[in-house]
Amino acid sequence: MSDSLSHFALKSGDQFPSIGLGTWKIPDEVLPTLIPEAVSLGYSHFDCACDYGNEVAVGEGLKSAIANGTSRDDLWITSKLWNTFHHPDHVRAACERSLSDLGLDQLDLYLIHFPVTLAYVPFKERYPPGWFFDEEAENPAMKHVKVPYSDTWGAMEELVDAGLVKNIGVCNLGTAMIRDLLSYARIHPVVNQVEMHPYLTQQNLLRFCQENEIVTTAFSPFGASSYVPLSMAEDSERLFDDPDIQKIAEGYGKTVGQIALRWAVQRGTVAIPKTQTAAHLKENIEIFDFELSYSDMLAIDSMNRDRRFNDPAEFGEAAFNTFYPIFD
Ligand SMILES: NC(=O)c1ccc[n+]([C@@H]2O[C@H](COP(=O)([O-])OP(=O)(O)OC[C@H]3O[C@@H](n4cnc5c(N)ncnc54)[C@H](OP(=O)(O)O)[C@@H]3O)[C@@H](O)[C@H]2O)c1
Repeated sequence: MSDSLSHFALKSGDQFPSIGLGTWKIPDEVLPTLIPEAVSLGYSHFDCACDYGNEVAVGEGLKSAIANGTSRDDLWITSKLWNTFHHPDHVRAACERSLSDLGLDQLDLYLIHFPVTLAYVPFKERYPPGWFFDEEAENPAMKHVKVPYSDTWGAMEELVDAGLVKNIGVCNLGTAMIRDLLSYARIHPVVNQVEMHPYLTQQNLLRFCQENEIVTTAFSPFGASSYVPLSMAEDSERLFDDPDIQKIAEGYGKTVGQIALRWAVQRGTVAIPKTQTAAHLKENIEIFDFELSYSDMLAIDSMNRDRRFNDPAEFGEAAFNTFYPIFD
């Protein structure tokens, strides 16, 4: 039993639950019952975002869980600042909108969703704003605006000062941008949330973050599964069908999903698997009663293919008519 891995200490002193439920693509009608069910199974951490368009429904689920007897203090709620709200004039309003939708007074963690700065879209025009500037235009596209990351970070720090959020962090940043951020941050970024799975291990980024007291959260911890239905991955790339990881799973009497999550947590990352399937919900939190051997950890590390599924350089052009690389 490795209970010591159930939480990771953040530089702020807070304890960050190492498994969270990802809420991207979970339909509104599912969340009000899924969230209390997750809490009853032992989940306390919920990963949300303005862009997922379902924070009101997440809020209903949180309200039920709290009505069932869970204390707000025992829950960890993360949300994210969308790309259209990076200008300091919009950061607080965006955070307050997520808080109001979620039915909360304070977030445990607020992240900048992407190092992507898009033109402001007012709430009354469209919420969530998504990627297009004007969906009705003849040739809809993303509209880039110039907002220095340092300006956005300053506004994020003010959210901590105002007590609206306990911790702030980033998503989808590489080492160079984090190094720059650390040169001016008054409040330390405690988390970098990035795509990470056995086919994209990002060893250098993980090590750099560890050396700088930034906890890495692994999104899409199952790799292709989330992206096949979006035509952003091939069926043949599914981790669940990989014979090498299947073999490791058989050896422990665990599922491939549990092996992927245990590997993530054992290498020191938080993982936020999404599921709306009851059996998966139960399975994905049951990873604290076994330990992967050193050689199996190395074997999974060596499955790396540097395969990134969530890449604006690809989907920006394919889905939003705009070439917008951020990782190259
Ligand atoms: N910061 C960012 O830019 C960013 C980007 C992407 C994602 N995220 C966050 O990360 C979360 C997780 O990533 P993700 O949603 O892309 O993908 P994921 O969690 O890696 O995979 C989800 C897929 O795996 C299936 N699944 C879940 N548990 C399973 C199990 N035990 N066995 C077999 N299949 C299983 C799900 O189907 P079922 O629902 O049927 O189980 C779904 O199809 C998101 O929900 C979101 O909160 C953040």
